[in-house]
Amino acid sequence: MIFLKTDEEIELLRESNLILGKALAEVAKAIKPGVTTAQLDKIAEEFIRDNGAIPSCKGYEGYPATLCTSVNEQVVHGIPSDKVFLKEGDIISVDTCVLKNGFHGDSAYTFPVGEVSEEVMKLLRTTKECLYKGIEQAVTGKRLGDIGATIQTNAEKAGYQVVREFIGHGIGRDMHEDPEVPNYGRRGNGVVLKSGMVIAIEPMVMSGRRNVIIENDGWTARAADRKPAAHYELSVAVRNGKADILSTFDYIQEVLGERFI
Ligand code: MF3
Ligand code: CO
Repeated sequence: MIFLKTDEEIELLRESNLILGKALAEVAKAIKPGVTTAQLDKIAEEFIRDNGAIPSCKGYEGYPATLCTSVNEQVVHGIPSDKVFLKEGDIISVDTCVLKNGFHGDSAYTFPVGEVSEEVMKLLRTTKECLYKGIEQAVTGKRLGDIGATIQTNAEKAGYQVVREFIGHGIGRDMHEDPEVPNYGRRGNGVVLKSGMVIAIEPMVMSGRRNVIIENDGWTARAADRKPAAHYELSVAVRNGKADILSTFDYIQEVLGERFI
């Protein structure tokens, strides 16, 4: 069942996403060679709690941390650890959810660590472009298949593949609501989008083959062929004419400056 949100509810969702966007920027400040993913997790958790919100990934189906930190060939749901040290040339997807006033924000960003190869930077640029092209389709009267097909086509024309096992989702009082928002599909298929739907669009793009395996920790999804993967996510309200992006990368952009892609 898809819950349409009122304008007031959408403003509450924007507030949760604003805290999230600022938390990701705090993490961005700390990302450099030598830092552990556990250190990043602590920064995010403290920032979110200091802003009167709850890091809602923590405890979700037993997930043990605030952030999902997925490095290089890890796609999503990497668990922060004091044994994972970032190094020059890595990429790291940082994904988290924030609960405030009863509504969840959800957003993710893949950061380069220091200098990253041009090949991998292209993967990051393409994945982000997939996200924004998908968002352009999140308007009244389009269908979910238009979002999925747009993301898939854009990734595949660059020579990449999209993950099938993990998808975007509706979001609101629950972190994961209907509808499912796949990063693949066929134009003109699927649920018709209505004003007031709020969805998290989150392309996961593989530089190699699309197959993923779950590591022994029961969470971390990584590329079976160990090729790098990227992941960007924004929560978006469907509107007439133009999608309303509730999350924000603006604070990340302030931190990264000219390194922002
Ligand atoms: N933020 C993730 C998503 O995009 C959820 C992570 S799963 C959790 O849906 F267990 F970490 F919460
Ligand atoms: Co999500």
